[in-house]
Amino acid sequence: MRERSKEQWDKVPVHRQGIEIRVFVTGATGQLGYDCARELIRRGHEAIGSGSRAGDDMKIFVTGVGGQLGHDVVNDAIGRGHEAVGSDIAEHYSGVSDGSAVVTAPYVQLDITDRAAVAATIEKIKPDAIIHCAAWTAVDAAEDEENKAKVHAINVDGTRYIAEAAKSIDAKMLYLSTDYVFDGKGERPWQPDDKNYAPLNYYGQTKLEGELAVSGTLDKFFIVRIAWVFGLNGKNFIKTMINVGKTHDAVRVVDDQIGTPTYTFDLARLLVDMIETEKYGYYHATNEGGYISWADLAEESYRAAGMNVKVNRVTTAEYGLSKAARPENSRLDKSKLVGCGFTPLPDWKDAVKRYIAEAQL
Ligand SMILES: NC(=O)c1ccc[n+]([C@@H]2O[C@H](COP(=O)([O-])OP(=O)(O)OC[C@H]3O[C@@H](n4cnc5c(N)ncnc54)[C@H](O)[C@@H]3O)[C@@H](O)[C@H]2O)c1
Repeated sequence: MRERSKEQWDKVPVHRQGIEIRVFVTGATGQLGYDCARELIRRGHEAIGSGSRAGDDMKIFVTGVGGQLGHDVVNDAIGRGHEAVGSDIAEHYSGVSDGSAVVTAPYVQLDITDRAAVAATIEKIKPDAIIHCAAWTAVDAAEDEENKAKVHAINVDGTRYIAEAAKSIDAKMLYLSTDYVFDGKGERPWQPDDKNYAPLNYYGQTKLEGELAVSGTLDKFFIVRIAWVFGLNGKNFIKTMINVGKTHDAVRVVDDQIGTPTYTFDLARLLVDMIETEKYGYYHATNEGGYISWADLAEESYRAAGMNVKVNRVTTAEYGLSKAARPENSRLDKSKLVGCGFTPLPDWKDAVKRYIAEAQL
């Protein structure tokens, strides 16, 4: 969190809630001070942080800024005083206009399936680090034969082009992956360094090949597997449940797929923590609070939103076939985070509550 000039502060957008204040935050490199400063900046206030942090501010290139996670990663990086350049396939930033820093942050249009464009863009920007959030994320549509070439081009080839470009400028790279690289059998939580991959669906297959492209190209990489993602900027299960609940008294939700959800706002903090280090390798990262089912997540979402909707628990088989098979055991063991000195994410119930308030669902 570096001190900013008057000109830099003038670029910080005014949050929709209005009144701006200027706050001097001591201990801004510690957990509480950092969260306070980040929240102030997110609301459009001025936070002048003081404290010590190893290393200099970095230039971070973030793909997929028009999606859920990229939006929050850029905000988090800027909130700490890093220089963040967001990128996506749209001509201009296409995410929510929520008044946060990402809306006016530097943005570059880039189709990651265009190898020459990826190389030229990254060579020109010369980031210290790349956080690669862009992906084809429509899991069922990925099964359609007519989409498979595109899914592969984005999730595998695009990821490889980014890894090659990172290598050519010696940048660190952080790639987001998924629990879907595993087959979901048994009840044992998956370890970050497990190698018995066996994806059940095409999306999972391409995310795995993306992992292999990163690990086969780079030494300075982080591969972070996440699951059941929800964020302000995009579609997700919680938003769908809340919308359905507005017109239905009861919903059927599967109760035999077990995992933990991930709030992008919380994850973004961890990802920027990671990229500031050289603790490369494989990690699992979701919110804490124990393993749950989709039905548990639906119930908690209704409770947090103050909605009276009955959740009827069904098995995946009872729910009916979806195009893509999904793993029953999505338990991701996250203990490596603490072992490596990273702060884990907050409890998932707390995350759901904050998300529903923030997204005004
Ligand atoms: N959403 C989940 O439940 C989930 C679960 C596990 C892992 N992940 C992984 O986490 C990461 C972030 O997920 P998210 O939910 O924020 O995704 P998202 O779908 O919200 O955003 C993905 C972004 O990638 C962009 N994109 C797609 N094709 C592109 C191309 N050719 N060139 C440039 N940009 C392109 C899209 O425009 C979009 O803005 C992804 O790598 C995803 O695979 C997501």
